[in-house]
Amino acid sequence: MASNLFSLDGRVALVTGGSRGIGKMIAKGFLEAGAAKVYISSRKAPACIETAEELGPQCIPLPQDVSTLDGIKALTAAYLAREDKLDILLNNAGAAWGAAFDEFPESGWDKVVDLNLKSPFFLTQALHGALKAAASHEKPAKVINIASIDGIRLNPQETYSYHASKAGLIYLTRRMAATLIADSIVMSAIAPGAFASEMNRVARDQGDVIAKRIP
Ligand SMILES: NC(=O)c1ccc[n+]([C@@H]2O[C@H](COP(=O)([O-])OP(=O)(O)OC[C@H]3O[C@@H](n4cnc5c(N)ncnc54)[C@H](OP(=O)(O)O)[C@@H]3O)[C@@H](O)[C@H]2O)c1
Repeated sequence: MASNLFSLDGRVALVTGGSRGIGKMIAKGFLEAGAAKVYISSRKAPACIETAEELGPQCIPLPQDVSTLDGIKALTAAYLAREDKLDILLNNAGAAWGAAFDEFPESGWDKVVDLNLKSPFFLTQALHGALKAAASHEKPAKVINIASIDGIRLNPQETYSYHASKAGLIYLTRRMAATLIADSIVMSAIAPGAFASEMNRVARDQGDVIAKRIP
């Protein structure tokens, strides 16, 4: 049936950065598509809990900072205390940094690259066992990385580490996908265009300007 084409009936998902913006939209969409449970994560526990309450009892908050290996370990432990399988891992949490070329600081590289590029690798590595446990040839597990159109083409902002992290994430996805397919884990990346959000305040506050750049 065509109406079942996008069904996630019975699947369990984990969405990083699920408390707001694109991650919240994804968590909501997964639940609407029939997912059994959607775990969401973000650093700020109150916002994470509030969003889970808003999305309903099948949405479970697991607040953690996924930009550090300690945070990834803690999130993995919290997830594995509740589930032994993971059907869908959504690496969505991301950050941006903009500064003029001559002033761009090292901290603007560390923050962005740790979260946008390193954390999808190490969180997927930490949850590899649970993904394998859910995966079969008939029903592969999925790992989806939220890259960005900024990993493919330039935007006018001086977001050096963001561009580099998203371009890197696209290629990292290819490299990891080639490995993980042996375990029936399908890895892919999505490169969204502009979404009005807390991160993309230009799209949020000057939507008409951004809209002119979108065909
Ligand atoms: N908006 C756009 O135009 C656009 C376009 C293309 C791609 N993207 C990508 O889409 C993803 C989501 O962006 P968004 O616009 O929805 O951003 P957003 O509104 O700023 O939301 C980011 C989410 O990630 C969480 N987060 C941030 N740092 C984290 C950390 N260290 N550990 C765990 N969670 C963390 C945030 O919660 P806390 O602050 O509580 O941690 C929040 O839930 C990002 O990867 C972004 O690069 C966005």
